[in-house]
Amino acid sequence: MPRAIISPSVLASDFGQLTAECKRMIKGGAEWLHMDVMDGHFVPNITMGAPILACVSKGVPGIFMDCHMMVAEPEKWVNDIADAGGALYCFHLEATTDPLSVIKAIRARNMKVGVAISPDTPSTTITDEVANAADMLLVMTVYPGRGGQKFLERCVPKVAELRARFPDKDIEVDGGVGPKTIDACAHAGSNVIVAGTAIFGAPNPEEVIATLKATVNT
Ligand code: DX5
Ligand code: ZN
Repeated sequence: MPRAIISPSVLASDFGQLTAECKRMIKGGAEWLHMDVMDGHFVPNITMGAPILACVSKGVPGIFMDCHMMVAEPEKWVNDIADAGGALYCFHLEATTDPLSVIKAIRARNMKVGVAISPDTPSTTITDEVANAADMLLVMTVYPGRGGQKFLERCVPKVAELRARFPDKDIEVDGGVGPKTIDACAHAGSNVIVAGTAIFGAPNPEEVIATLKATVNT
């Protein structure tokens, strides 16, 4: 299984200090920063878009922005996110009928590719062809739309199914993940760990980051 990558979700950070919050996480041991882009269509909320990501990439040199695109038309934002410095563009399979063409567009802009599935979408929706064309598979462990929700244990078997099919692929979990739920995620085979509330809400985020990482790597 690939090594652990911790990707704190900035949705739980103080948006007024976004660049400082990102720097604090990197200093605390985070490899990536998880940027939740919501468009008010695919999900009811609106969060941030390319102009904010551009400020962050300018303000935090070397940052790896793991962009989770909860948007209805994933092909529409590829160029904007690439121009803003996005490193990985992860889109939802529920939002498109032609994932391979979205992947092609992302590759054309030299970003890494992620494909995401929501809680009610089976793991078999990720075909071998799509998975092999992607760098990362994201199994949502809450319904996309907001931070601070309860971890859905019933999504965990999908992680195990995907790990069995793709031993070397990055598999990300997102939603309600923290020290209490990391065991199940790590045991099932996820290695890219998103956590918002559990990290930003902790008195010592670096301790939480270290715990999550150690659990995956052992
Ligand atoms: C939910 C987002 C998540 C969320 C995670 O729609 O995709 O990234 O911010 O936050 P926590 O860890 O608080 O569930
Ligand atoms: Zn997310």
